[in-house]
Amino acid sequence: MTARSIVIDNIGSLITNDPSLGAGPLGIIEHACVVIVDDVVEHIGSAGAIADRRIDADGACVLPGFVDSHTHLVFAGDRAEEFTARMAGEPYDGGGIRVTTDATRSTPTDELDRLVQHRLDEAHRAGTTTIEIKSGYGLNVADEARSVAIARAHTPESTFLGAHLLPSEYAGRTDDYIHLVCNEMLARVTPDARWIDAFCETGAFDADQCRAVLDAGRSAGLGLRLHGNQLGHGPGVQLAVECGCASVDHCTYLSDADIAALAGSDTVATFLPATDFSTRQPYPDARRVIDAGATVAIASNCNPGSSYTTSISFCIALAVRDMRMTIDEAIQAVTVGGAAALRRTDVGRLSPGSAGHAVILDAPTHHHLAYRPGVPLIRQTIGPLGR
Ligand code: NIG
Repeated sequence: MTARSIVIDNIGSLITNDPSLGAGPLGIIEHACVVIVDDVVEHIGSAGAIADRRIDADGACVLPGFVDSHTHLVFAGDRAEEFTARMAGEPYDGGGIRVTTDATRSTPTDELDRLVQHRLDEAHRAGTTTIEIKSGYGLNVADEARSVAIARAHTPESTFLGAHLLPSEYAGRTDDYIHLVCNEMLARVTPDARWIDAFCETGAFDADQCRAVLDAGRSAGLGLRLHGNQLGHGPGVQLAVECGCASVDHCTYLSDADIAALAGSDTVATFLPATDFSTRQPYPDARRVIDAGATVAIASNCNPGSSYTTSISFCIALAVRDMRMTIDEAIQAVTVGGAAALRRTDVGRLSPGSAGHAVILDAPTHHHLAYRPGVPLIRQTIGPLGR
């Protein structure tokens, strides 16, 4: 098959995320073009390169496609009523996961798959080109197996989250459920899963139960990730670092010891600011985490309960306004940061040899993503999502 080339030409400001190619940590090049051959960046130069297809950026900013390293897209139904009650003062405690589990279990597989595709199309329009998708609303062997299989059909970054919440039929038998997750359920999902995850939180699973899940996942050959420190201080961050997780996600409540542990590890601290927004929680102290030297990512956490958004632009605006990240740090966190959280080096950057996944903004610079919150600034997303 002959190679198919695309040039994104007439770029006003190109974010490469490769400091050896351009200015500052974002490696910014002005008046640039990017040549992509068979989905891989072949060449970056000044405007005017020849290719089979030319996309005119018309002087706008171009950046790497967003890497959304934390989503729960395999679900049916919504929880608008729960959100409305929360805005009237009800707290968020994760209990609504069981409501979504009931809806997901009773939805046919082809319909569930269609719902996932619809959400992926929305994310792609919003600039996401790499995405992680978790199970976690099946919570029995058959429904977790089909959830992970659906996730895998859409992305290589599929995650088994059987330890999301105790299903009601296991009330009072948490250890039995953890045994099921670590044995029969894990064996069924392993062919379709790249990652294993658990929700380490009061009301979900404790450190020992989560450690058992992570150990079983590691033995099955899966990569490790963990939900930790979302609703209060707890052992999640320390456990994730101790187990060598690629990422610990939420990190809303962090002690000095948690920050020191993250800084001394290669576990990425993934912030999910749209969750803190939608649950009226405080925002994580990103400034201290970054200043301590930890690697950080920002992801959407798209799910029907705590964060029903696919908009990475919205997350960037929150991170800058409410978490005191600089705009450059926020852009890095949704590109190379997300890639690090998935242990990927081929995405999140635009340099020769990297994936040719790019976003053309309807704006002259990346600053507009925070400066113009709520405005649909993604003019075009180049590159597939998932597959
Ligand atoms: O990451 N924390 C656990 N899981 C999701 C919420 C899921 C839900 O409420 O349905 C989260 O916020």
